[in-house]
Amino acid sequence: MPKLVKGQTLEALADPFAVPPTEAFRHRRRGGVLVDEGGRILAVDEAEALEPHADTVTDHGDALILPGFIDAHMHYPQTRIIASWGKRLIDWLEGYTFPEEARFGDPAHAAAVAGDSLDLALAHGTTTLCSYATIHPGSVDAFFTAAQARGMRALAGKTCMDRNAPENLRDTAQSAFDDSKRLLDRWHGVDRLGYVITPRFAPTSTEAQMEALGALWAAHPDCLMQTHLSEQVEEIAWVRDLYPWARDYLDVYERFGLLGARGVYGHAIHLEPREIDRLAEVGAGLAHCPTSNTFIGSGCMAVASLRMRGIGVGLATDTGGGSSFSMLRTMGAAYEVGQLAGTALHPAQLLWLATAGSARVLHLSDRIGTLATGMEADLCVLDLASTPAIAQRAARADDIWDAVFPTIMMGDDRAVTATYIGGTARA
Ligand code: GUN
Ligand code: ZN
Repeated sequence: MPKLVKGQTLEALADPFAVPPTEAFRHRRRGGVLVDEGGRILAVDEAEALEPHADTVTDHGDALILPGFIDAHMHYPQTRIIASWGKRLIDWLEGYTFPEEARFGDPAHAAAVAGDSLDLALAHGTTTLCSYATIHPGSVDAFFTAAQARGMRALAGKTCMDRNAPENLRDTAQSAFDDSKRLLDRWHGVDRLGYVITPRFAPTSTEAQMEALGALWAAHPDCLMQTHLSEQVEEIAWVRDLYPWARDYLDVYERFGLLGARGVYGHAIHLEPREIDRLAEVGAGLAHCPTSNTFIGSGCMAVASLRMRGIGVGLATDTGGGSSFSMLRTMGAAYEVGQLAGTALHPAQLLWLATAGSARVLHLSDRIGTLATGMEADLCVLDLASTPAIAQRAARADDIWDAVFPTIMMGDDRAVTATYIGGTARA
């Protein structure tokens, strides 16, 4: 019983950082996505060509059908503290984040926030998230249970910290290993879920803990590993004090087996040339979190030059350090940060970062992130005239990129007409 979803479509054909951006996508004004009963894409083509094969048709008119957005780095437990005023990273962690994360020892709180954060994601057109949980194993169970109930492809891991955090938010090297392994065995590969080994960052783990988690990763090389890297200058100075033997921040992770192609490193703003070389050599992925980087005052990631070095970059909200649940708003911030760093990212590059780019760093490119035959039918449908301000600008547009850019810069959840998970409308 194939279903047809009709609208404008954009199919990614190539990497818009490697070819002229407008050549990286095929646009169809009257396109369609044909979806099978198992929730996979059977074909993307002119709607007219697909209609004879469909049993049901949903027509979104002039709205634009995209792959669902993929948030490559976020903290679902920080949902309730988004937009908390006035602090830089280390004080922000101590003043806002740790007190809130301490509440996740309560399974009822974890379940409520997990459900809310996934519903907010869906309302904003985000279909996959890669989240940090808290140190409490139950916070991972809550997130995966909520994602499973919604049929979502989702990734998460227990955040590990055994120093420089409040006592009630500390584990140990051994318990971090044991709890992470138990969660990995329970959840990794179940339905659409994947476990991510998650040392928070070098300042909150002892060498023994990082070594234990490096060993866990070596034993489960198909898992991702996520952590933070070179986000803020004070943090980098702290790492230098804690690890005087290290050549640089990335060297700390490398020493303990925490550098690899399936590593996803959040922020990566203030990188040394050697770190950039090593990230490129090992094929590691970066998560760009532009609303967070401006909100917490961290700096501007050099996205275009890192991509030109062949380093994979995905886009991420980093809630609640990030100031929005919206990947549209995040793309707009990536454009602004790109301008400050000297490069105007093309709308094709922004959309690609939020979909195929994130899928690539999460090693899910064979399943999500593009509209193509065989991919999972997680879709986001955008109204390109969702507010009067956007509509009057879009009315002047002479091609799809000029039509979509006002929504990238000014759009939010009001632009999301529908979100599909596995071919079924969920928001
Ligand atoms: N570095 C370590 N932990 C965090 C966090 O929760 N948010 C951000 N933005 N940076 C971090
Ligand atoms: Zn983060």
